Amino acid sequence: MNVKTDILIIGSGIAALQAARLLGQQLQVQIVTKTSVDISSSYRAQGGIATVTNPEDKTTYHIADTLTAGEYHHEKKHVEALINDGTKIIQQFLRDGLPIDREASGEPALGLEGAHSHHRILHAGGDRTGQVFIDYLLKQLPSNVTINCYEMAYELLINTDGACIGVLTQGKHGIKRYFAHHVILASGGAGALYACSSNYATNTGDGIALAFRAGAAISDMEFMQFHPSLLWCNGEAKGLVSEAVRGAGGIFVDAQRQAIMKGVHPQLDLAPRHVTAHTLFKKRDIGQETFIDISAIQHFEDKFPTIAKLCADNGIDIQNGLIPVAPGSHFLMGGIIADDMGRTSIPNLYAVGEVACTGVHGANRLASNSLLEGITFGQKMAHGILQTGCKQNNFTVVYKVYKQPMPSLLTKEELQQTMMHALGIVRNPNNMQQFANQLPSLQSLQQVDISGLKQQGLELYMMHIVASLMVYAALTRTETRGAHIRSDKPNSEILWAQRWIIFEHGQMKV
Ligand code: SIN
Repeated sequence: MNVKTDILIIGSGIAALQAARLLGQQLQVQIVTKTSVDISSSYRAQGGIATVTNPEDKTTYHIADTLTAGEYHHEKKHVEALINDGTKIIQQFLRDGLPIDREASGEPALGLEGAHSHHRILHAGGDRTGQVFIDYLLKQLPSNVTINCYEMAYELLINTDGACIGVLTQGKHGIKRYFAHHVILASGGAGALYACSSNYATNTGDGIALAFRAGAAISDMEFMQFHPSLLWCNGEAKGLVSEAVRGAGGIFVDAQRQAIMKGVHPQLDLAPRHVTAHTLFKKRDIGQETFIDISAIQHFEDKFPTIAKLCADNGIDIQNGLIPVAPGSHFLMGGIIADDMGRTSIPNLYAVGEVACTGVHGANRLASNSLLEGITFGQKMAHGILQTGCKQNNFTVVYKVYKQPMPSLLTKEELQQTMMHALGIVRNPNNMQQFANQLPSLQSLQQVDISGLKQQGLELYMMHIVASLMVYAALTRTETRGAHIRSDKPNSEILWAQRWIIFEHGQMKV
């Protein structure tokens, strides 16, 4: 089946819906999403949206916190755009009635999270911020927007001028061929490549793999953020315990209730995430258990209803004040290189939200900057596209002939376990090299004929592309910076400052 539209959006998180809401006022928009609109990292975001609303706070402080947490590996002009434009955009949402939590005075109730110098985290429904925001955006979608659930995009369509003009998808209606003037990838990150993750199992990095196959420029794949506190039960991660819990007075402790972060970092339990995650990792590596002590938090169930339910569902009695936690993969700072208007290296192809690498998160994202990114760059991209208009008139697809048969792949479980081992919180070159040797070459992966694959096979294939990008980038960056921590190179190297490891047309360049 062929579908023609003005705008095609892959993904249904906050960036996708913000763009659809604005573009749909003038243009025909088709959204394609692999599952449903309540399955995305945005939807399950707990902590909130970082933005300056408090008179004692300033955008310059927010910018400085973002740069410090990300160890200055940023595209600074994009950080400034994110925070300066984002502050105004969120203020407009508040004027329009976004239902955030408020103090009795009517002022926004502001949370605190890691590496923030001020209370500036807006939240909603206690710890249901993402859900409230997504529901709010869904209600505002114009009738020009159609959402196609349970369809997976698996190939970008490129025309004879090298511009992106559509996507092939697979789903309950079989194979569909979408043609569009503008194609937006807003398909999220790749946390599900790891056995222990805060992400949905569907976050398999598809958008990055699609873009890689089409030759788009991709960067920063060595930077995967691990969240320090996933609920840990029966040897498995069961979901997120928001950093906002520590902002409200929770502290990391060991089984003897000794504070873990004391003496590690001046910001203690609210140190940047790579510091807290690394510290818990070291404790657990020597066999110690790790917890958040919540005994100082009054009315925990009212403040954090999602986390209280998560604990109850997993048999954790929060009345004793301890929640067992462990670190797990959470957010990919790297992705498809894009500017603050979502433009990628391929004409008419846009990337926004976690799938994009705009340089706003550096080597370690500041907590709660990701919803802000989706909202802000989703809006800037939409305005840019509305200005450009729909002028594409070359819809002649170049169908590449892929001759390579599928190489042998790891199983999903093998891949996820090996990712933890080789590309987890602390990386060593031997493990990474062994992993690289187990994976098919990137060149062979790029040339594979995937037309006969069903969704599970496509996902596994895409996970292999993303894992390969990550392992080659992590082997190449011979230093420690932010979330990329190497046991053999424990310090940042001046040689690597402001250097990006980029893959384009299948080749790596530094
Ligand atoms: C959290 O609530 O701890 C997660 C927020 C984020 O990842 O920004």
